[in-house]
Amino acid sequence: MPEAREPGGESGVGDFYDRINDVTADAMGGFLHGGYWEGADDPSTVEEAGIRLTDFVSDRLRLTPGDRVLDVGSGNGKATAHIARRHGASVTGITLSPHQVRQATDLAGASGLAGSVEFQVHDMLALSFPDASFDAAYAIETVCHAQDRTDVFAGLARVLRPGGLLTVTDFVLLRPLESDDHRALVDAAIKNYQQGPMLTRSEYEACVRTAGLEVVEFLDIGEFVRPSYRVVGSNLARSWEALKELVTESEFHYMVEDLGRFGDITELGYAVVTARRPGPRTAEGRN
Ligand SMILES: C[S@@+](CC[C@H](N)C(=O)[O-])C[C@H]1O[C@@H](n2cnc3c(N)ncnc32)[C@H](O)[C@@H]1O
Repeated sequence: MPEAREPGGESGVGDFYDRINDVTADAMGGFLHGGYWEGADDPSTVEEAGIRLTDFVSDRLRLTPGDRVLDVGSGNGKATAHIARRHGASVTGITLSPHQVRQATDLAGASGLAGSVEFQVHDMLALSFPDASFDAAYAIETVCHAQDRTDVFAGLARVLRPGGLLTVTDFVLLRPLESDDHRALVDAAIKNYQQGPMLTRSEYEACVRTAGLEVVEFLDIGEFVRPSYRVVGSNLARSWEALKELVTESEFHYMVEDLGRFGDITELGYAVVTARRPGPRTAEGRN
């Protein structure tokens, strides 16, 4: 593992995920995203809630067996493997973290999916795949890392075939933040997770459209995802000894002290946005 360095410096997002991947995945039921909880009494485990959120995303893509799918910011590949198996799709996962690529590749091999999923260190802001090379794409809690989401969507619009669908999950500002405490929590999340600014729904939809995609659906499932943060925050706090070896002081403070309260920010929604590359599916669409 590389040494911890200050966030936002030359360390970058890939280095950050190299460092926090394992301890975070342990706290999140194996995933690196929040879960979907049916309500306050939902007895699901974090892993079950994580699977439910993954299914919520992949169900929007109307996948059919053999579809070529891009997982943008594939993390440790757990969601990638789940989606490939569930839909019979062929999935390429990209991340900036070499550690995640190794781990995801090992997981795919151990799950008998080596022929249908593959992983690369590949920047979502500099996609080098050919035009129209994917039938669908998804990004679970990844686009938030871009300073300008339009840049990500423009690259995805190019590599999606005409008519292809993209589903992303991301944070969205439902209304202005109500207190200094909430503003400080959001600022700390942005700083420590090296994210871009939080956008309103209309700003978000403008990014999608400017990139040449049509908005098909914009859902806020914040009330179902917010319970994740208290669970994950307390799981991370229990792993504080392992964590403090891996992260900076600022990251440690955020993950152990602040993250558990992130779900209190009801002004912040959890958007599931589905967009479509305009145009009819063509024969060239499937290379
Ligand atoms: C919060 S994790 C989510 C991982 C996975 N989608 C999941 O839900 O388990 C964010 C992921 O986005 C990736 N990421 C961030 N910026 C990226 C970029 N510019 N290009 C490719 N991947 C990126 C990180 O490396 C990490 O794998």
